[in-house]
Amino acid sequence: MLTGPWRIETFEVIDSTNAYVVARAREGALEGLVVRADSQLAGKGRLDRIWQDQPGSAMLTSILLRPAVDERHLQLVVAAVALSVREAVGHATGVLPDLKWPNDLQIDGKKVGGILAELVTTSSGPAVIIGIGVNCSDHPSDVLTATDLLRATHVAVTPAELLEATLEALSQRRTLLDTPSGLTVVRSEYVSTLDTIGRRVVVQRPDGDVHADAIDIDETGALVIDVAGVRSVVHVGDIVHLRLEGA
Ligand code: BTN
Repeated sequence: MLTGPWRIETFEVIDSTNAYVVARAREGALEGLVVRADSQLAGKGRLDRIWQDQPGSAMLTSILLRPAVDERHLQLVVAAVALSVREAVGHATGVLPDLKWPNDLQIDGKKVGGILAELVTTSSGPAVIIGIGVNCSDHPSDVLTATDLLRATHVAVTPAELLEATLEALSQRRTLLDTPSGLTVVRSEYVSTLDTIGRRVVVQRPDGDVHADAIDIDETGALVIDVAGVRSVVHVGDIVHLRLEGA
């Protein structure tokens, strides 16, 4: 029996679980609405990308949260979900994926999952919609930058099983999201888990790539980088991990 406020609705086909939960949030849906679909016709990725999977092969889900924190801490709310998905994958497969800033799950440097968070203002207050896509099986083998859990871990996990494990793990972190002290706990776990911290990275900016050292996460969840001795903060974007020396 699942613990927590979760009410799961399942669809065979939907346009986008995120778009659907955004609409439901605007209509006043309460925290805990979880929508899972076997397939999406218009799945959305970060930075206006599209997200596509073979029907039935991925955990495609969106979770509605209404935490009592201000908007600037949204990234830490999303981090709590990413940490929960990572834990769930570890529980289900025995392999804990790496977490690449901001919230990509990777195994052996290949992406197995990603998160797209959307914040909407509704008449019953702000709502955070956190969309999660995790490739469980059948990811095209010619896409060399990504993989699926079956190929990477040799363990077959269904999207429904993975969602249940994710919600169990999120239930343990949920109360942390309502207070500054709870978010400090999330930030510590995020910093110590992120594979990005301590690495040489390339930050892909609209005006060009920047080589930097990834050194920390600030109190809002943004990435702190050092470029030739000058620190700055990256709130949104993509980074590439450069190889560790000797790796
Ligand atoms: C990323 O670009 O890494 C984030 C991808 C998030 C995809 C998921 S699939 C379920 C949910 N619904 C969407 O339309 N997108 C998210």
